[in-house]
Amino acid sequence: MRVAVCASGKGSNLKALVDALPAGSPAEVALVISNRKDCGAIGFAEERGVPAATLANVADPTEWLDLLASRSIDFVVLAGFLKKVPVEVVRAYHGRIINIHPALLPAHGGPGMYGLNVHRAVLARGDRESGATVHLVTERYDEGPILGRAIVPVLAGDTPESLASRVLAVEHRLLPAAVTAAAGAGKGRAIAFTLNH
Ligand code: GRF
Repeated sequence: MRVAVCASGKGSNLKALVDALPAGSPAEVALVISNRKDCGAIGFAEERGVPAATLANVADPTEWLDLLASRSIDFVVLAGFLKKVPVEVVRAYHGRIINIHPALLPAHGGPGMYGLNVHRAVLARGDRESGATVHLVTERYDEGPILGRAIVPVLAGDTPESLASRVLAVEHRLLPAAVTAAAGAGKGRAIAFTLNH
């Protein structure tokens, strides 16, 4: 299964995925897509020799679809991609496009819920648990069916930063599990999965 990873930031989930899928795995990161050419994810792709592309116009579905077709992409992963994916692309990859979110959806999702904002909201509400969610991407932002989640405790004295780093550590296991499950379901059909501790 040929996977494209879309990222706008550091790319630590991209790295976790590439590291979890050695040569010969049923899934392979075959393309990295970004809206920012100077981000960590593109730097990482170049370092590891993974084909990478920066979109000239992130709102142009034709640019997306041509790019994905040019690398024969079966499955798309959004890992810290901060722009909206055009609806035509979401439709074309229906059931084959997932996102990772750093909270336990359906709580703390939706517009404005990215980066430290998410962890601030968790602490402000006094939640005792947080975690990460992998869900299908549909036309309704952050609302697609949930495929898998990993829970982390919220600890006394947590700051948004300390909680973020604990959540990120489980994201790095959750995302490879999601992709491996999809690869097992044949040519990239996202399916529900559980993370074995
Ligand atoms: C992760 O917390 C992910 O859940 C969110 O954006 C962050 C990306 O981090 N969607 P990285 O770029 O993979 O390090």
